[in-house]
Amino acid sequence: MRNAEEWTTLLSIGTEGGTIELKGAERYDGWWDFRLRTDESSEGVTYHTAQGAKEDGLKLLDGIAWMSLYPLYVSPEAAGAVEKKVLHHKYRNESSFMAWLEACYPEAERKAALLANWLLTAERTVLFTGAGMSTESNLPDFRSKEGWWRRVDPRTVATPEAMNQDYPLFKDFYAARMASLEAAVPHAGYYVISSWESRGMVQAVATQNVDGLHRKAGSQRVYELHGRLQAVRCSRCDEEAGEADFRKGRPCQICGGKLRPGVVLFGEILPEKDWDEALLAVQKADLVVTIGTSLEVYPANQLPLMSKGRSVYINADYSGTASDFDLVLEGRAGEVLQEVDRLLKSVQL
Ligand code: APR
Repeated sequence: MRNAEEWTTLLSIGTEGGTIELKGAERYDGWWDFRLRTDESSEGVTYHTAQGAKEDGLKLLDGIAWMSLYPLYVSPEAAGAVEKKVLHHKYRNESSFMAWLEACYPEAERKAALLANWLLTAERTVLFTGAGMSTESNLPDFRSKEGWWRRVDPRTVATPEAMNQDYPLFKDFYAARMASLEAAVPHAGYYVISSWESRGMVQAVATQNVDGLHRKAGSQRVYELHGRLQAVRCSRCDEEAGEADFRKGRPCQICGGKLRPGVVLFGEILPEKDWDEALLAVQKADLVVTIGTSLEVYPANQLPLMSKGRSVYINADYSGTASDFDLVLEGRAGEVLQEVDRLLKSVQL
């Protein structure tokens, strides 16, 4: 018979009518003895015992309605096993779920843990990305203080009129952007996204970016709403051409017309197939995560609003744009994505 001080309280839970307490005592052989005490007023005090490995104690709680109960104490020994329960729960009772989240995770991790739970429990998740997704790959965005539009007026380089009226300036601008792609590689956040797709947690990525980094990192279902920079074609006969021909200022070899990058210029319509498929995916999604975009450009900025599901906004500087999102995580995309992935991996079955 053990004496009381050998038992460690692993978990203490508040219930409607009393408390549930799980205690454990490690044996000399590394196994654990567990004792579950419940004092539901209806049935009085009952005990259940079990033996097993450290994380097996929670099996005594199988079948309890976790999310209708409140954590009073979660010990470090039980935290891992409880986190696995909490993050996999399709919770309905928000306050109870948040109480479990607070019991398991320090303040700084709580938003990432909530996003991890939403990713694990959503049926269909779509990610929507902007240029902020590529700044950690050393590609400037457009509207931050180091952005392209802080150095160049977009009306002089990113419109059909600019292409027709000052082709040399137009060509030099996009040739410079193509040159910057040569050294650009997807950062770790891109690989997190492609692994979430291969692990079945993300259905698709809709991106405003034209740098091709999502595909480079292995993402399969990518809707490129603003086209792809290196997909050069003739502006007159639409014949495909080589990037090198464009960067050297050569004309179309079929009709002699001006070559152009495969991006959507301001005032042009978005590629119909990519837009239609992205819109359908978002409308069917129960989770849309918007990453690294100022949401300044129509119609792409309408996408996150087309979902009836939960909406998340990840941005390096929270400028208040995101007031109508269900969850806002302020931080750099690569860091936030890796933090969420670390929590997912810590509980992934
Ligand atoms: N992590 C997270 N967010 C970031 C990061 C980062 N590392 N770096 C920048 N951001 C944020 C910025 O704070 C900004 O809110 O990403 C956003 C980038 O916004 P924009 O520069 O406006 O880029 P984007 O929203 O993609 O622009 C949309 O505008 O000019 C057109 O065709 C162009 O596709 C582009 C469209």
